[in-house]
Amino acid sequence: MAGLGAAALALPGGKVLDYMTKTHNTPALLGGNPVVSPDWPEWPIWKPEQDEGRLLEVIRSGVWSRSEVVEEFEQAWAELIGTKRCLAVVNGTNALQTAFAQLDVGWGDEVLVTPYTFIASVSCIVANGAIPVFVDIDPETFQMDPEKIEEKITPRTKAIEVVHIAGLPCDIKRIMEISDKHDLVVVEDACQAWLAEVDGQKVGTFGKAGCHSFQNSKNIPMGEGGAIVSDDDEFMDRCYSYHNYGNSYGSAEGRAGTKLRLAEYQAAIGLAQLERLEEQSQLRNENADYLRDRLEELPGIVPHKLYPSVTKAAYHLFPFRYQQQEFKGLPREKFLEALRAEGVPCSRGYDELNKRDLLRNVLDSPNFKKFYPEERLNYERYTAENECPRNEKLCNEEAVWFTQNLLLGSRSDMDLIASAIEKIHKNAEKLK
Ligand SMILES: Cc1ncc(COP(=O)(O)O)c(C=O)c1O
Repeated sequence: MAGLGAAALALPGGKVLDYMTKTHNTPALLGGNPVVSPDWPEWPIWKPEQDEGRLLEVIRSGVWSRSEVVEEFEQAWAELIGTKRCLAVVNGTNALQTAFAQLDVGWGDEVLVTPYTFIASVSCIVANGAIPVFVDIDPETFQMDPEKIEEKITPRTKAIEVVHIAGLPCDIKRIMEISDKHDLVVVEDACQAWLAEVDGQKVGTFGKAGCHSFQNSKNIPMGEGGAIVSDDDEFMDRCYSYHNYGNSYGSAEGRAGTKLRLAEYQAAIGLAQLERLEEQSQLRNENADYLRDRLEELPGIVPHKLYPSVTKAAYHLFPFRYQQQEFKGLPREKFLEALRAEGVPCSRGYDELNKRDLLRNVLDSPNFKKFYPEERLNYERYTAENECPRNEKLCNEEAVWFTQNLLLGSRSDMDLIASAIEKIHKNAEKLK
């Protein structure tokens, strides 16, 4: 705990609260002692004694390409999520891309999607030749606002890609009602939402398909990996065929396909991580509920809200809104810098996805020009139609994130996060 005064108070979990030192009131950014010592749980977690047996077995067997261990992971994942089938693939992006391709969402179609998400939620749409149409968010929940969906539906709308961003379930039941009314396909991007639930039902099981990511930063990390889950056997057979070069499989005849097979050693890592996912998930929920209550008391901090139907969140991220005016006009970037200096890792989160250059270049690409009339590819018109003012404010002014590993700390760690923010609030004028 270098740098901390002798009178600092040790707390469970190895953290030290710098209560009594002379510099306890001075922000760390201005030379005071940080509130938190920098020893948050590292990610990913790997416990050699517990985790390496299966992995070594796989490596020593020489069977490294898709076989029994991948199948075992698929069965375990389907059981946990509550679907009939699961197909493991190389990553979450390709899980989504495969799902859309096998639901015949492609050239000529529009797909409704939130602008508050990771780029992959849009790459999978344009990779199939469809055009993303952005539905503004509800800043209270950080999710697509269901009330904004119907105004974006056109005769060309084929699907809604719902994203449970941050691992917080979106208002999926309301969105399913709207999609049923308009006969739209729903694909769930649950790439950040493993085990999250709405009314006791896992997200990823409401739409036609649910897609997960097991990339390294994710709550169940394998390095790279992904999965599609569904109860629809014919759809899942088509997905299997597509992910295996287009070879026929089950009820699915040969088709345009590619190769997206997960390797045995990735599945062995996944099975080891699966052992602790539920316990970690429980801890994240407990800490997040506690932290949300603590942060709600602080001026200028507005934690995310969960929809009333949410029975469990996944908490890949813990998002909240920062209100600069309540911090004497201290800009968000400075707040983040000050919070990091106090020992709390944090970030500003996503940029506006609906304004990314990839969209201009996709609309301007030779293939899109072959398939779409010129007026549909007009970028100025596209950006005007896809303005999302609430998302713009969230991205450019308000959003702050903590990553999931902070929620694996102790309850007193959550108190330290709140204390660090309180300290910045008290010193906002000096920090400007
Ligand atoms: C919301 C969301 N969708 C899709 C993906 C894509 O997953 P992957 O990185 O495994 O391709 C990610 C991963 O970061 C994600 O966060």
